[in-house]
Amino acid sequence: MEQRTNSPYPKLDRPVLAVIGILLVVSTILFVRSDRLRDFWYYQYEFKRMVADKFGAEKAKSVPSGLQQIWVRDLRHADRCVTCHQATAWKGFESAEEPWRTHPVEPLRTHPPERYGCTSCHGGQGWAVDVSEAHGQMAHWEEPLLGSELGEAYSLVDDKTALMQMNCNVCHRYDRETAGATAINTAKSLIKEKGCHACHVINSRGGTIGPDLTYVGDKAPEQYDYSRLSGQRTAFAWHVAHFKEPRALVSDTVMPNFHLTTREAQALAMLVLSWRREEVPAEYLHGAPRTDPRTPEEARAEEDMKTGPGAWFVKTGCFVCHSITAFGVRSPAQIGPDLSIAVEDVQARFGKTIDDFLANPTGTMSVVLSRQIILSKEQKAEAVKNLRAAFAEHQKQAAHK
Ligand code: HEC
Ligand code: HEC
Ligand code: HEC
Ligand code: HEC
Ligand code: HEC
Repeated sequence: MEQRTNSPYPKLDRPVLAVIGILLVVSTILFVRSDRLRDFWYYQYEFKRMVADKFGAEKAKSVPSGLQQIWVRDLRHADRCVTCHQATAWKGFESAEEPWRTHPVEPLRTHPPERYGCTSCHGGQGWAVDVSEAHGQMAHWEEPLLGSELGEAYSLVDDKTALMQMNCNVCHRYDRETAGATAINTAKSLIKEKGCHACHVINSRGGTIGPDLTYVGDKAPEQYDYSRLSGQRTAFAWHVAHFKEPRALVSDTVMPNFHLTTREAQALAMLVLSWRREEVPAEYLHGAPRTDPRTPEEARAEEDMKTGPGAWFVKTGCFVCHSITAFGVRSPAQIGPDLSIAVEDVQARFGKTIDDFLANPTGTMSVVLSRQIILSKEQKAEAVKNLRAAFAEHQKQAAHK
């Protein structure tokens, strides 16, 4: 009260205070709004300034202002990332901070942004012009940016930026190897090495003991049973844990423990999650497979396999997964090792004789011999006889070389 009477503007102070109060509220609202909108204007302003500093004011005028977008009709993307990431195609900002850094040149040389946009590789929400929305950092966004932040959150042991390779593989799934997708390449060689096709159909080829994996990446995160998983409840974490010890998550599964390292399990998780039914136009699919008709030579070789010394393996069905090259038997799938040297190899790998191995098989073969190809005692003896004959033939051929 005292203060008020001492005020130089006793009559005015109340309305003035009220006006100031209102202004404060309004400007706070405006400030909050413009702070969220400010994002891209701020980044554009800064970039113009950087260009002016480096290349002069004239050049800076060529930097576009306002909303920028790359529309890729074939992929149905309209990516606005370049609204902030304006330096993408500029030279000279290779060591600037993000979002003002020049893009690494190599990926864009083979995939020009006007045909690929940004999100086909990086993920993120193409339409957004606000950092947290564009990068999809909120938990419920469907398309998070597959960058280092998510890589950290998923505790990737290797390259924190590797998650992007899941998107590379949407188009490159039929490549045996893709330069720049190291983790995916590791996983692809593991698929071959571990014989996953023995139990799983992948791209319409393989066995049916386990589920078809061709589009397993489409399985929604809610469809997984997390009850036996500790820690993060994401599809990625589920697959990593399942690869490391299938039985820890699915107690009655016959999927073997392959004793994978964390790095390998994470690479495989990325690979299987990349197997999605994306609608990518054919010209965007790199190296899609073609099925060629059988040549007469192939037909003849097949006939020889059925009647030659390896006929038992063909008749019994072992050749679906195994070649027996010593007998000229070529497996169409080559999921398991060549059986020409099994007699020696089984001893080295499992420390038991071939008789013992067939009587008490481990890993994938224990599943094959209990569900797919049931052999009587006599048939197992015949298998051993044939395996020994194949080995003898192999040694003979090796000696002649
Ligand atoms: C509103 C501005 C803005 C938009 C829009 C934007 N970004 Fe960014 N981006 C940034 C800023 C700022 C950084 C650096 C700070 C950070 O990482 O959050 C950044 C960093 C990045 C990084 C490096 C971070 C990492 O995790 O490796 C990538 C990759 C990236 N952005 C991709 C994209 C993609 C793809 C889009 C479009 C879907 C996009 N950005 C849209 C502002 C933006
Ligand atoms: C063909 C796939 C591809 C496309 C398309 C693509 N990028 Fe990249 N981008 C990459 C690769 C690969 C890297 C290097 C990642 C690494 O090794 O850290 C990268 C790096 C980046 C980085 C730096 C992040 C970091 O970790 O250093 C940003 C930011 C970025 N890209 C934004 C964009 C924007 C914006 C577009 C669209 C104009 C785009 N990218 C289009 C593949 C792509
Ligand atoms: C939207 C589909 C798509 C995405 C996503 C994609 N690529 Fe490609 N990529 C292609 C196509 C199609 C070609 C062939 C381009 C050409 O020859 O003109 C190609 C070419 C390449 C090549 C050159 C290989 C060759 O034989 O010419 C490499 C290496 C490559 N991509 C790696 C990557 C990496 C790494 C990523 C992820 C960062 C990626 N790609 C993402 C479709 C894609
Ligand atoms: C001996 C047979 C067998 C082999 C070999 C095998 N799996 Fe499995 N796999 C199964 C069975 C059975 C299931 C279903 C029960 C379960 O989830 O464990 C399964 C489940 C899966 C799932 C989860 C599928 C889903 O819909 O949730 C993935 C992914 C998978 N396997 C990948 C692989 C990969 C990759 C390999 C090779 C490294 C492999 N499997 C080798 C039998 C096998
Ligand atoms: C569905 C695919 C499949 C079929 C059919 C199959 N196998 Fe196998 N087999 C495998 C795989 C995969 C391995 C490698 C397993 C491992 O390393 O643990 C293997 C391993 C073996 C081994 C050990 C070889 C070595 O060098 O270590 C022998 C022996 C064997 N199989 C015999 C047979 C015989 C005999 C038949 C036919 C009665 C047969 N397999 C049918 C998938 C199959």
